[in-house]
Amino acid sequence: MPRTLIVSNRLPTKAQRTEAGVSFTPSEGGLATGLGSIYKANDGQWIGWPGLYLDSEAEEAQVTEELRADSMTPVFLTETEIKEFYEGFSNETLWPTFHYFAQYAVYDQQYWESYVAVNEKFCRAVLAVAHPDDTIWVHDYQLLLLPQLLRKALPEASIGFFLHIPFPSQEILRVLPWRTQLLEGMLGADLIGFHTFGYMRHFLSSVHQLLGFANQNGLIDAGSRSVQVDAFPMGIDYDKYAQLATTPETKAVLETYRQALQTPHVILSIDRLDYTKGIAERLRAFELLLKRYPELCEQVCLLMVVVPSRDQVEKYKELKEEIDELVGRINGTYRTLTWNPIQYFYRSFSLEELSAMYCVADVALVTPMRDGMNLVAKEFVASQTQQRGVLILSERAGAARELSDALIINPTDTSQLADTMREALAMPEEEQIQRMSAMQELVQRYNVHHWVQLFMDRLQYIKLKQQTLATFELDEAARSALVQGYGQAGKRLLFLDYDGTLVGFNRAPQRARPDQELLQLLTDLAADERNRVVVISGRDRQTLAQWLGHLPIDLICEHGAWLRPRGEEWTTIQPLNSLWKREIRPLLELHVDRTAGAFIEEKEFSLAWHYRRVDADLGELRSRELSNHLHFLASNTDLQVLEGNKVVEVKNAGVHKGAATARWVDTYPADFILALGDDRTDEDIFRALPDSAYTIKVGQTVRSLARYHVTDWQAVRVLLRELADSAAGQ
Ligand code: UDP
Ligand code: G6P
Repeated sequence: MPRTLIVSNRLPTKAQRTEAGVSFTPSEGGLATGLGSIYKANDGQWIGWPGLYLDSEAEEAQVTEELRADSMTPVFLTETEIKEFYEGFSNETLWPTFHYFAQYAVYDQQYWESYVAVNEKFCRAVLAVAHPDDTIWVHDYQLLLLPQLLRKALPEASIGFFLHIPFPSQEILRVLPWRTQLLEGMLGADLIGFHTFGYMRHFLSSVHQLLGFANQNGLIDAGSRSVQVDAFPMGIDYDKYAQLATTPETKAVLETYRQALQTPHVILSIDRLDYTKGIAERLRAFELLLKRYPELCEQVCLLMVVVPSRDQVEKYKELKEEIDELVGRINGTYRTLTWNPIQYFYRSFSLEELSAMYCVADVALVTPMRDGMNLVAKEFVASQTQQRGVLILSERAGAARELSDALIINPTDTSQLADTMREALAMPEEEQIQRMSAMQELVQRYNVHHWVQLFMDRLQYIKLKQQTLATFELDEAARSALVQGYGQAGKRLLFLDYDGTLVGFNRAPQRARPDQELLQLLTDLAADERNRVVVISGRDRQTLAQWLGHLPIDLICEHGAWLRPRGEEWTTIQPLNSLWKREIRPLLELHVDRTAGAFIEEKEFSLAWHYRRVDADLGELRSRELSNHLHFLASNTDLQVLEGNKVVEVKNAGVHKGAATARWVDTYPADFILALGDDRTDEDIFRALPDSAYTIKVGQTVRSLARYHVTDWQAVRVLLRELADSAAGQ
């Protein structure tokens, strides 16, 4: 039975040292609480760190045994690893960078080396328990290198990765000295998930800019593999929170809170200690609320829970001091004998206590500066069984993309936040119910079970897709079979694309003229009377005629609009007109005006808009805009729009390399067919050929309808030279 192995730095259970020995409590943080209740389904396992440095083997053995019983496998970290990998690279380098606090980030080579070493340690731990058909699901920023490490050890495994924090703009990411290694590490996965479309967009653009891999609808062509990227907003265990709110235990705690708090209104704030959570700004806004609206004094209290977190990291220590000071100042200024404005707790609470807090609150303040998702917001919503209560939510929390019925604020705008608190306290019940029930419907439907299912289904889908588009490397065995087949054949057809296949891809198309080696190669191949050598290209016929016209080979130009079998005249495949060019050209020119580096190429029966010299992201964007526009104009006409390698081309419908290929196969029957091509338009050639043909995709991208792949045009030349020589020697 295939299992799912969850791998994250922190286990959902943490070991703690007490006087009585090591004890166990649930971990805090969205990842652990979110997946904690479901990982055991189908014999699942969770591999991670139990959150404590253990200094004796006896302790390690005890912890291992306890956790094993609960389907967890511990990975122990040494004191140095905790300092350099966990506090250091994970929380002083990646965490601030990914949350747009780049000014807090530390760049330390030692930290990086420890990060690499601990990712390798996790890899060994996973390999020790993984079965061949397990699905491995790696989580979060502490393990960005792990997918690639696992991929090297288990090339066929199903590997998913999910990032629980934001993914920053590539402008921020590129500051990191280790940016490419981090991106490559993630690309070891088959499926990479983010909470929001925005994070996904940033990731795709980083991969494009820094690694040069483009994507189509989130499917990245990462050289030898394709990787799907998608947005999966994480949900919570809705029923658990909704039911918890009604249990007698929670009600009992709720009653004690009501009596103790006494004010008519309660505002709730729950976070881990973190500068990304906007806790200090929130306190300042609460202070402003009391100052601006003195009538609220003694009417409202702020119930504030700060859960201790990463307290050995300098910035967290500073934040703790700042919060202590602010709470002291506000309480000192406003308190009365019977009223304390802020009830502040620096510790964690049990689930029942948390549930009672969610229930007692009239307003929840979730106002992070940045937050990947923020589950507290969703837990608050799920706990409002009476549909009362108002959520104030930062526009920079991932949850704001879904919970649009919250009062959405900018967390740095203290004045707006103070006014929104007042608005929330005065919100009519009817409006509260309306907003809350809409949010509940959403949180209930897109719950954590749904999230896991969606992710797993998508992972399965991409695995299947990879298989259908997989090509084999033209290794020694395949190559010698090919050479043998060639040698034995009586009649051969060789379809050769030009740019990117016979010559390197050149930024200036006119510079890609054939060199002496290529001319000699084509001459030698064509000299064998069993061969028909067909150069099949998107280029215009004048250029190809000028470059290759003197050779005894067949030329197919403009993707099949112009044909010239050797020794014959040029013909067209069908009567074509090009009057449409007058209408279409201005649109292409407009896109050249707007896009530095773009240019138009005019052929007899087509117009091409090239963007190979344009900034990569801008080029993609403009080409998509242009092709949408062209598709619209081309509908119900006999025009078609083709998207090639850094080019969008408009031409008469029914003209493509596939049609020309089919015509050649019919006209010149052969018992050996070889086709080589590098871009999307060459897929039409591969599609048109019988299964017995040797179809070879050229380039780093191996997703193709072709059967084999080779790395580049130089490899093509070596192969063709081998064929030419093998025949000559016979
Ligand atoms: N939480 C907890 N104990 C507490 C307070 C909070 O376990 O005393 C939980 C809370 O219920 C939530 C998680 O910690 O599930 C915080 O997740 P969130 O996504 O809001 O923020 P993160 O800590 O992951 O940045
Ligand atoms: C966030 C991160 C988690 C992390 C949690 C608690 O939710 O996304 O990966 O586990 O915070 O932080 P900690 O450093 O205590 O594991």
